[in-house]
Amino acid sequence: MKILVTHEIPDAGIKLLGSKGYEVVIGNAFDKKELIAELAKDRYDAVLCDLNDKIDAEIFDAAGKQCKIFANYAVGYDNMDLKAAAERGIVITNTPGVLTDTVAEHTFALILAIAHRMAEGDRFMRAGKYHGWEPMMLLGTDVSKKTLGIIGLGRIGSRVAHHAVRGFNMKVMYYDPKRNEQFEKEFGAEFGPAVEDVLRASDFVSIHVPLLPATRHLINAERLAMMKKNAYLINTSRGPIIDEAALVAALRAGTIRGAALDVFENEPAMAPGLAELENAIVTPHIASATEGTRQAMSELAAQNIIEALEGRVPPNVVKG
Ligand code: DGY
Repeated sequence: MKILVTHEIPDAGIKLLGSKGYEVVIGNAFDKKELIAELAKDRYDAVLCDLNDKIDAEIFDAAGKQCKIFANYAVGYDNMDLKAAAERGIVITNTPGVLTDTVAEHTFALILAIAHRMAEGDRFMRAGKYHGWEPMMLLGTDVSKKTLGIIGLGRIGSRVAHHAVRGFNMKVMYYDPKRNEQFEKEFGAEFGPAVEDVLRASDFVSIHVPLLPATRHLINAERLAMMKKNAYLINTSRGPIIDEAALVAALRAGTIRGAALDVFENEPAMAPGLAELENAIVTPHIASATEGTRQAMSELAAQNIIEALEGRVPPNVVKG
């Protein structure tokens, strides 16, 4: 069996594939043309790809009939054309679960960092502007006992809510297409029947929905205007869920107080003006980037491939 890994990843999964006697070829960040050429050149039985790879019908056709599975090295799979995969009988998998704690931690780090003006304070120190303690300097916002709005109560959203309630005595309000009364009881959380209810009531709003046609620009100028003037927006899911140009305008105008983003609408670029805003914190899509978690993702993606190539149903199949 021959496996193509489209980018270098931590070695746990590579070792696992090797232990099965599979030949593993590690690519060097292919663009689409290069990936098609590589797949057409050789016969691969499986591909381990990631969110940089836009996997569509052309890619599947270049891979050919012997290629059974494309295992995405990510929990999100908006880069995969699931319909084209299903039409060709190709299995698509992702890596859920193993990154939940890490992404929830990063989300909370962003909440604390934007509320306590950490990045601004760091820049201030490095610029030699600190000349002694001042009662009015860099005043931030308390997180404890405030209301956290969660948009999307999946694994990660629920974990962020857990930290908010148990660690910071926050009140949680959430929107999700599916109401979860058990969660409400456990965390004293309130269900917002519409996204707008959560936006209007929250001091911090954290986005945890997948990128789908229905969630693209879910947060637009109109919805930003519904948020409290002193509220913060946090996004560790997918960039296009927020209209980033509208967000820059809202941050400039003081429509909301701040934003902390790990994902961007047109990665790796940021919307014009975002980098200059003091009331924004930006990290380069690293919410799942700890050594342990990236190894676990590598192992899970490899496990999905092994299951498929040995004729079993992989644990993390995704369907459209
Ligand atoms: C994912 O898994 O979808 C993240 O964006 C990268 O870890």
